[in-house]
Amino acid sequence: MADYIIAIDQGTTSSRAIIFDKKGSIVATGQKEHEQILPKAGWVEHDPIEIWRNVQEVIGLALSRADLTRHDIAAVGITNQRETAVVWDRTTGKPVYNAIVWQDTRTQDIVDRLAADGGGDRFKQVVGLPLATYFSGTKITWILENVEGAREKAEAGDLAFGTTDSWVLWNLTGGTDGGVHVTDVTNASRTMFMDLETLEWRDDILEAFGVPRSMMPEIRSSSEVYGAAESSSLLRETPIAGILGDQQAATFGQAAFQKGESKNTYGTGCFLIFNTGEDIVHSKNGLLTTVGYKLGDGPTHYALEGSIAVTGSLIQWLRDQLGIIQTAPEVEELARQVEDNGGVYIVPAFSGLFAPYWRPDARGAIVGLTRYANRNHIARAALEAVAYQTRDVLDAVNADAGVDLTELKVDGGMVANDALMQFQADVLGVPVVRPVVAETTALGAAYAAGLAVGFWNGLDDLSANWQEDKRWEPTMEEGERDRLLRQWRKAVTKSMDWVD
Ligand code: G3P
Repeated sequence: MADYIIAIDQGTTSSRAIIFDKKGSIVATGQKEHEQILPKAGWVEHDPIEIWRNVQEVIGLALSRADLTRHDIAAVGITNQRETAVVWDRTTGKPVYNAIVWQDTRTQDIVDRLAADGGGDRFKQVVGLPLATYFSGTKITWILENVEGAREKAEAGDLAFGTTDSWVLWNLTGGTDGGVHVTDVTNASRTMFMDLETLEWRDDILEAFGVPRSMMPEIRSSSEVYGAAESSSLLRETPIAGILGDQQAATFGQAAFQKGESKNTYGTGCFLIFNTGEDIVHSKNGLLTTVGYKLGDGPTHYALEGSIAVTGSLIQWLRDQLGIIQTAPEVEELARQVEDNGGVYIVPAFSGLFAPYWRPDARGAIVGLTRYANRNHIARAALEAVAYQTRDVLDAVNADAGVDLTELKVDGGMVANDALMQFQADVLGVPVVRPVVAETTALGAAYAAGLAVGFWNGLDDLSANWQEDKRWEPTMEEGERDRLLRQWRKAVTKSMDWVD
């Protein structure tokens, strides 16, 4: 058997291809950012054609950097930004509209309309999610209601919907020439349409949203062979054998396979996932119920999730919109210039507030400003906002679980930031632990694909690959922690009730 697995990570800001060896170590990476299209306040779009082009390019980059060909690759895994909706024409292969990104809030009216009949939690018992602009469902409704001719084509069975895993898979397996239209259980659990118990689309909910069932991909497990890459692809004939939404992939890559294990990923947003084993647990504290993973015919593993919309993207906002830094890592340099936040707090409620608050009426706020505050304080407040938001979610997890987590496994781009990780441990009051391979998202997808083709034999092989790299112990005094958290919570209340 070939010696490597390639994972495609189609994320919010970039697409990457990462090649892993049997130990789960990175052999080579290709990465390319795509444009964030922001047509109006609250609207966020991506061009699906650009994404597909970038995916092909990064596969080529990774293979050439590793000096490998398809013959060295045993299988392909796909992981993706979840909830981002692509609707395309099955005959032409062209999207009928840009991808509407998970952060986009344009569908609040549709959410309100649906909530008017039965409330915001009307589908929660079945799908695990409250009605919110975050999930794919209302984005599909919006496209059908606003793109000329889309509704008729959809009724005629000519349109396909997919999150970006499905879009990439369909193209990779041939597109209009026999492309496979499939998604996995974890991505399906983010649409609003999948019954968590049966793992099937619910006709009554699809109908309430006005979405024809014919648009929906087939729901499959996270680890099985879905198809092979088509003949013109660099990966031709290589099996595509794993799909996991990026946060579930990171959990899998962290080897958090068992009930009670958890992880927090620091990307565009932050997503804390707590494995609840084979139990479907409904949160009383603002967390989502979601599918964790399902390997082939094996049992379904569920999870509770605390989703935070804006963390890494707040740093990008400082760079691209405010221009107070030139590169993202500079934020740490600025933050280090000052001893504390100078009383400044940023609540980055750009898409409203997600977990545990679920307040679509919130908008971003910078509070506590005095004449003394400078850009160093703003940079520090931005980093601190990442840690405070995680604390809010951890409190909700602890309350739902009935026991307190004793440490937090972390991964994602921002865990390279030492000051942030120390502050995170300080405001949580528990140790924060980073593994050697912090690219756990891509690793998780590689694991799912590798398990399906026998590259790895089982979960024990994967657990053996996990190694601790660094641990941050909390050092802050309790009184100081309480003071900071009190101020933070006051700041959060200031961001609420903003949208009329
Ligand atoms: O739910 C949204 C999430 O899947 C996006 O993750 O890593 O692209 O910010 P990321």
